[in-house]
Amino acid sequence: MRRCTVKYPGFALLLGLLVTAPTQVVAQWYDLNVSERPSSDNLDLEIGRDIYQESCWFCHGEDGDGDGPISPYLFPRPRDFTMGSYKLRTTQSGELPLDEDLFRTITLGIDGTAMPGWEPHLTEEERWQVINYIKGFASDLFEDEFFDPYQAIVAIGNPPNGSEADLVAAGKIVYDENKCWECHGDFGRGNGERASGLTDDWNLPIMPANLNVGWKIKGGISPEELYLRFSTGLDGTPMPSYEATVSEEERWQLAYYVASLVGDVESDRSGDGVIIKAHKVPGSLPTKSTDSEWDAAQEIRVPLTGQATYAPRWQIPAVTDIAVKVLFNEDEIAFRLAWDDRFADTTSADSVLVLAEGWTADDTYPVLFPDGQRMRGYFSDAVEVMIPVRYEDSPILPHFVYGNPGNPVDLWRWQADWQYKYGSNESMFELRANGVESPPKLHDIESQKITGDGAWVDGRWTVVIRRPLNTNTGNDEVQLHSGSLIPLAFHVWEGNNGETGLKMSLSSWTFLDLHEPTEISIYLVIILIILIAALLEFKIILWVRHRAVSGKSVGEGFSSMINKG
Ligand code: HEC
Ligand code: HEC
Repeated sequence: MRRCTVKYPGFALLLGLLVTAPTQVVAQWYDLNVSERPSSDNLDLEIGRDIYQESCWFCHGEDGDGDGPISPYLFPRPRDFTMGSYKLRTTQSGELPLDEDLFRTITLGIDGTAMPGWEPHLTEEERWQVINYIKGFASDLFEDEFFDPYQAIVAIGNPPNGSEADLVAAGKIVYDENKCWECHGDFGRGNGERASGLTDDWNLPIMPANLNVGWKIKGGISPEELYLRFSTGLDGTPMPSYEATVSEEERWQLAYYVASLVGDVESDRSGDGVIIKAHKVPGSLPTKSTDSEWDAAQEIRVPLTGQATYAPRWQIPAVTDIAVKVLFNEDEIAFRLAWDDRFADTTSADSVLVLAEGWTADDTYPVLFPDGQRMRGYFSDAVEVMIPVRYEDSPILPHFVYGNPGNPVDLWRWQADWQYKYGSNESMFELRANGVESPPKLHDIESQKITGDGAWVDGRWTVVIRRPLNTNTGNDEVQLHSGSLIPLAFHVWEGNNGETGLKMSLSSWTFLDLHEPTEISIYLVIILIILIAALLEFKIILWVRHRAVSGKSVGEGFSSMINKG
């Protein structure tokens, strides 16, 4: 049997790949040039089945019901083909997809999910063969002429006249009037009042898309693709079709508005070696995230991925980037960390180190929804900054997951549960980690010098973390010296996503530039030196020319020129 060619140990490898290399290409779903569909005489179920059993069954299930052996580790789950319900179509809501729609999806994969693009692995002919095979899982629907999807194609016309800015502004009104915010939130972060508790047709939890994160939009982010999505809906999910209720013109306006949201914050996903420039301020540092002093600091977006190096490996991190600003003065440093999070999780089991739960797990890859649903209100949202303790002495960076025994890291952590239970002052912790063998340990009480505060507004946390640059406690916690380049990394936990301990989002090492701003006077001195040098050179050239004309050797006259000076 072909099935036996895919062995279970291979799944671990495959899952590992999924974490490190999620589908992140921005899809050009609609624009894809689809080759001509072969006639049914040239399609062979046997060939299609072989391809399916080589490449698809371990996710989509042997019987096409979405229950393949690695499906419990994936979110969203692989599609159950037996219901004939598809998200990405050019057909009306509730209709079957065209073969061409399936061809597009199978060719490109689905952004932000485990569904890979098959273009490099299957020829066009093989893709058509496997499409023919998966339609067989819902043959009663696909073979019924009553359901012919080619009779239900949604037409894409042309966008209405008007400037892009006008379309975007009009689209914002359509967004508000049609209550998109009930699910997607006022700013499209997926945090609307109905967002919690939504389920899909397979009875699994589903979140409204965060419309600010373009690389996770499944069917593409061009206005044409968005127009199509608003017209077709995403079948099987709570995302409805607006074909019947919103006019064509308004759907175009909506498309331009949403395209403008995703365009704004499309972030560079390769964050290696990011440098965060700290800004020095003369007076005291801000205590709140809303203080105006922050305006002066440059904001850097640092990409995050799931922790996938040690068990429990985390394939479905909720937070995929964090925006960082840093200020410092003579004595102190302050970080302002902001990230999108649909729900504020401010309660937990009440141990400081509840985040250490799930530190060790028997499962290399945790099952994501053991009972169909995930626990809520159990894990807290949290963030931490990680800094190598001996960054000044050791040119070698510690291991990027919590350092190693010879090269420890300090952690400056904020936890929402403690802030909401005991107040801001109690929500901050300084910890030390020496690798992942055991959870990080709290520093002594006299070494706990960090302060801070977190605020959740409109689906986004903003947390301030402050600490003296130098602690003078006599202990060996990390000391920061202005003028240096300090390696650091960030960790974020999204409580309602079941994140705790090593189940978290993390960044690779970034660098904090703590240089003082160069004084104007220094610039003046440098400019003066350059000017004098230029003048001198000019004089030398003139003098050399003069000498050349009068026939004297260059060396002879040099001292006389300087003396004349
Ligand atoms: C690593 C797991 C994995 C493999 C392998 C995989 N898929 Fe998928 N597939 C998924 C997931 C997950 C989804 C659901 C994405 C979503 O719901 O947003 C999906 C969805 C789909 C869809 C539905 C698209 C829609 O519009 O709803 C099709 C069609 C599909 N896959 C075909 C295939 C075919 C054909 C193969 C083999 C050539 C394959 N998949 C292999 C994970 C996988
Ligand atoms: C009842 C809740 C609900 C409402 C109302 C709703 N959406 Fe959605 N929307 C969702 C969900 C859930 C998803 C995610 C579907 C998925 O991931 O498969 C989604 C996905 C999307 C996507 C991403 C599509 C893609 O290709 O991945 C866009 C864009 C979107 N919605 C825009 C809107 C707009 C604009 C409106 C109002 C006209 C709206 N939504 C109304 C629940 C809703």
